[in-house]
Amino acid sequence: MQGSLIFVDLTLAVLTLLAAPVAGLRAARRRLGVLAGLAAGRLIAAGLLLLTGGLMLADSRLSVQVPLAVLSAAWAVWRPSRTAAHVAAAGSMLSVWWLLAPFAPGDTPWVLAGSVLALVAIAGLSVVVGRWRESRSRLSRLPWLVGAFLLVPAVTLVVAGQANAAGPGHQHGGTGQVSVDQLTGPRSQPPDVRTTLVAARTPVRLASGATVDALTFNGTSPGPEIRAERGQLLEVTLVNTNVEEGVTAHWHGVDVPNAEDGVPGVTQDAVPPGGRHVYRFVATRVGTFWYHTHRDGLLNVKKGLFGALVVEDPAGADELERTVFTHVWPAPDGDVAALDRDDQPARQQAPAGRDVRVRTVNSSEEPQSITVGGAPFRVAAIDGNAVAGATPLEPGTRLVLAAGGRYDLTFTMPAGPVTVAGAGNSSLTFSPDGAAAPVRADSGEQFDPLTYGSGPAPPAQPYQRTFDLRLDDGFGFSQGRLSYVSSLINGRLYPAVPSLEVARGDRVRMRIASRSTIEHPFHLHGHRIRVLSRNGEPATGSPWWTDTLNISTGDVYEFEFVADNPGIWMDHCHNFRHGANGMIMHLAYQGVRTPYASAHSPE
Ligand code: C2O
Ligand code: CU
Repeated sequence: MQGSLIFVDLTLAVLTLLAAPVAGLRAARRRLGVLAGLAAGRLIAAGLLLLTGGLMLADSRLSVQVPLAVLSAAWAVWRPSRTAAHVAAAGSMLSVWWLLAPFAPGDTPWVLAGSVLALVAIAGLSVVVGRWRESRSRLSRLPWLVGAFLLVPAVTLVVAGQANAAGPGHQHGGTGQVSVDQLTGPRSQPPDVRTTLVAARTPVRLASGATVDALTFNGTSPGPEIRAERGQLLEVTLVNTNVEEGVTAHWHGVDVPNAEDGVPGVTQDAVPPGGRHVYRFVATRVGTFWYHTHRDGLLNVKKGLFGALVVEDPAGADELERTVFTHVWPAPDGDVAALDRDDQPARQQAPAGRDVRVRTVNSSEEPQSITVGGAPFRVAAIDGNAVAGATPLEPGTRLVLAAGGRYDLTFTMPAGPVTVAGAGNSSLTFSPDGAAAPVRADSGEQFDPLTYGSGPAPPAQPYQRTFDLRLDDGFGFSQGRLSYVSSLINGRLYPAVPSLEVARGDRVRMRIASRSTIEHPFHLHGHRIRVLSRNGEPATGSPWWTDTLNISTGDVYEFEFVADNPGIWMDHCHNFRHGANGMIMHLAYQGVRTPYASAHSPE
């Protein structure tokens, strides 16, 4: 519902943009009526958004956009005149401008004052220019009104550009006593698991035979699966052979100490060709995790710099395990969806009666749909967190996996085949003889973690901090360029997005509302979060712990976490394109600073 309202409002706004100049030029009553009608439509849409989704979805519409359009158009209809028509046209266009150039809630007074001033100036100019016209002065032919109108967008863009330029020196948690460098894993004791990941340019061959100009860890992508038992100390040495952009290893979903987090420009410098970096951390939680480079993720994760990290429970059940990445490869003929490197149906043997666990990981930048055909199955874990009371799901239930997210799927092998199907032609079929053809299923149902499973929620406790994030599409400066992007957080793009500041031990409640027209998989480093509600509906299933939350158009998620891992952490959209465009912010602990800086985006 909220999602469609956002699209309806966007359509009305675009129509307003077309109708306003005509109405302003020809001050005809009928044309002004159209403008007033569009404004009324936007008023209704915003009102419904408020009722169904709450203030976070509707606030900038109700405080600025709709009043500008409605009041100016109403005036022109009520007291028609040339000047009123000019003001109505300008008011309508400004109302749309503030949809296209989102602003932080704190900026509302400035935005309103600037808009009202502009409208007053336009009214004044309209009168003066009208008189000039009669006197046939040359000056009167200049496009004064248009110039005055353009002043608002121009000023907005200059201010936004300055906020962005001021960004690179932005406060990394202030003048802290503790440097990120000091927040390491155990440095001296001998590791339980020791591995080396060597990053290099290597071609990767997909099952169809297509060859990708890829980047790999240890010559293969997905890279080697790293396995550890809970409580073990890992030591991973990352070596960069020839990846020019530099490489890091980020342990997605693992709450490592900050210095081990692998974020260039924040927790380390990217490892240049010929360089190396050692990561050490204890695997404290069981589950399916993954590692990937955090430098130029947009291209370099897509090209193959990722792999799985599985933390096992030493007393866990005996299962046949398989990890599969839903990946989209940049193949020579365009993007190809695959499970690992299988861009066509793949097979695997699994004896009847055997318990199977498929660890699915979405390493692509878009949400991926997964179905299981041939047997009822359970979602046993979400982002590595075991689901309590997981009940069997119908074959064909559609699972939507956020970019960066993981679902562990479990089932007991029947006598016939079971197929895990991904996008495009990709699927993996388990069967006793390992040769069966895929079984497709579609039940039309979609899996919803909000209500899945059962189990007591942790007791409610007071929060020391609350943060609200609004996600928008709009104009903004990112990396020094002005563009229209789907990547604004509270009206800003990284590095101009203020950090969320916390103190160690704080309990934090956060809300994220998406007014954007596309999906945003939000990922917080270093902490897992627990979803409290979505669109006002409380989470009622197993406590929904996650680290990567897919936020769709019109969604408002409320979640909590405990600030128990000091550092400067990334909180960003895992669609690397959006991240590169600026959908990044930091969670910064008081008293922590970073000695690293980079002209590059940290994603
Ligand atoms: Cu999987 Cu900051 O990323
Ligand atoms: Cu996004």
